[in-house]
Amino acid sequence: MIYEFKIAFKTIQKEGIGSLFKKVFSYFGQMVKALRFLTLRKPFDGTPDEVVDFSFNSAGGLIYPGQVRSEFVQIAELIKKQKPRVIVEIGTANGGTLSAWCALAAPDATIVSIDLPGGIHGGGYAYWRTLIYRQFARPKQKLHLLRADSHRPDSLAQLKKLLPPEGVDFLFIDGDHTYEGVKADYEMYSPLVRKGGVVALHDICLHPPEMDCHVDKFWAEIAEKNHACRELIENPKQGGFGIGLIQF
Ligand SMILES: C[S@@+](CC[C@H](N)C(=O)[O-])C[C@H]1O[C@@H](n2cnc3c(N)ncnc32)[C@H](O)[C@@H]1O
Repeated sequence: MIYEFKIAFKTIQKEGIGSLFKKVFSYFGQMVKALRFLTLRKPFDGTPDEVVDFSFNSAGGLIYPGQVRSEFVQIAELIKKQKPRVIVEIGTANGGTLSAWCALAAPDATIVSIDLPGGIHGGGYAYWRTLIYRQFARPKQKLHLLRADSHRPDSLAQLKKLLPPEGVDFLFIDGDHTYEGVKADYEMYSPLVRKGGVVALHDICLHPPEMDCHVDKFWAEIAEKNHACRELIENPKQGGFGIGLIQF
């Protein structure tokens, strides 16, 4: 609830009371969509295309990914083949990628998604959405939603307590996209990935300067040192997005 009050306070300060009323109206609209979401059949064991379609189109846009469709389908194909048993995601936002990881992971996988309420490059999500995101998991999957700053040592310590000892099969970094932010995420979390596991960095393409997204700079540094790298980019001139993969 603190998150909601902060957003309401910021809205009144920056945009005025009229804008707050509009946001409250849209907030309740989302809750109606959430009730609809609860009745939907989830795409467990679906094809990568079906899983990605669900993530883009279910419940009137209640959940959606910040992804280019073709890039998302390619990484979904990889996850479907790998069937990871342990997934860590940094950057939950509207749950688009998280819903896909849950549908494609092993039926008994442990999945942890971390997001900072009010975080840059997306803003996190309201607490009530955890009730929706929990529906992504299959009956035997363990899904943990950490609403925390990925850069804090106590967040890493909390995550470690949730993970089984085998190590992480798939780490998806899509949180703070500043150079220092993505570097810190990579340096803190990639040591948890097991040999043979995969790390994916989102937004490796060059972005317009006003977006303060510099994953491309960090990606260029690690790709130079690492031969097991691959890029999933629909169009190098698309002005953002793009996924970088590193096989450990
Ligand atoms: C681009 S969105 C994630 C999109 C999501 N992966 C998808 O495509 O469905 C980035 C998210 O990262 C979160 N974030 C930013 N800085 C963070 C930090 N230091 N720790 C955790 N989450 C952070 C933001 O709050 C935002 O919700």
